[in-house]
Amino acid sequence: MIEALMREWDGESVVVQYDQPTGAWIFIAIHSSRLGPATGGTRMKHYPDAEAALADSLRLARGMTYKFAVPRFERGGGKAVIAMPEKLEPQARTELLLRYGKLIQQLGGLFYTGPDVGTSSADMDTIAQTGAPYVFARTPEAGGAGSSGPYTALGVFTAIQTACDHVFGNTSLKKKRILVQGTGSVGGKLIEHLLDSEAEVLFSEVDEKLIQRFRDERGLQFVANDEVNGTECDVFSPCALGGILNQRSIPDLKCRIIAGGANNQLSRPEDAESLHQRNILYAPDYVVSIGGAMAITGIETLGWAPDHAAQRVRNSVRSALERIFRMSAELNITTEDAARQIAHQNLSA
Ligand code: PHE
Repeated sequence: MIEALMREWDGESVVVQYDQPTGAWIFIAIHSSRLGPATGGTRMKHYPDAEAALADSLRLARGMTYKFAVPRFERGGGKAVIAMPEKLEPQARTELLLRYGKLIQQLGGLFYTGPDVGTSSADMDTIAQTGAPYVFARTPEAGGAGSSGPYTALGVFTAIQTACDHVFGNTSLKKKRILVQGTGSVGGKLIEHLLDSEAEVLFSEVDEKLIQRFRDERGLQFVANDEVNGTECDVFSPCALGGILNQRSIPDLKCRIIAGGANNQLSRPEDAESLHQRNILYAPDYVVSIGGAMAITGIETLGWAPDHAAQRVRNSVRSALERIFRMSAELNITTEDAARQIAHQNLSA
């Protein structure tokens, strides 16, 4: 199965390390260095087995290549997955991160990383102790640009406005029913933007603390996980894990637009076709979620001021989506195909 995974993958290389002290597997997938050094988050979670973790790293790394290729940003696609044992004490986790940093250091610039699901800016501080200068989004106290979540959220917010403009004829979100799945660093910040725009926000979440915060303290409507697909709304914004758009979920969807920050939302490429046929406007995930990676690497390597970074994110998400929606309508292809064509053009230019 590992052989098949690697044979079918169109990327460059994978670095594998088995961490003896914790039993964790580290996979660093380098998908493409065509536009610049491979760059992507470090995802840290428990997987059923090492193979599932490897498969995730390959898919996520490819997504990063497309993410940077659409706006022609000078970075390549890569991703690190650390498949953790079910239980890991904080001290053991820190030591694992330090060994991981050392590996990144040894790669000498083949791979640059930042936060992703399961890692934070504080973790980047730890990794950078052994992995500098190849670590983005450290805390401001440690000299980094801080969390990438707010910039990703700003891009998702812009994507929702752009999609609403395409479907409803204007960017206003007032009274639009918007279901946000996942209220972590991206979804949580997105909700703030949506409330400022007077949208009607619904949310779905699995973490009890976050459910309490948004339902009980903020008074937002909570949607249980198994009711997400059937919930009527104008916009569905997946900001949790991937694979949620699939053969089972798509027939049940009651939304007009899908625009969210989660990586790899489509379970298979063909699922884009099912959405197209159902007349649901899908904003390709890697176009929507460029904000964090673009802003943080721009601030830390290109000298962008935070305001400038925010503006770049807004402009690049808006102009890319406008072009993709136009192409999709004119050529009667899915938005996913349109985005992929643009990415491939930019990669081969
Ligand atoms: N999680 C980010 C993404 O998927 C990864 C990232 C953050 C990369 C910050 C670089 C800097 O795009």
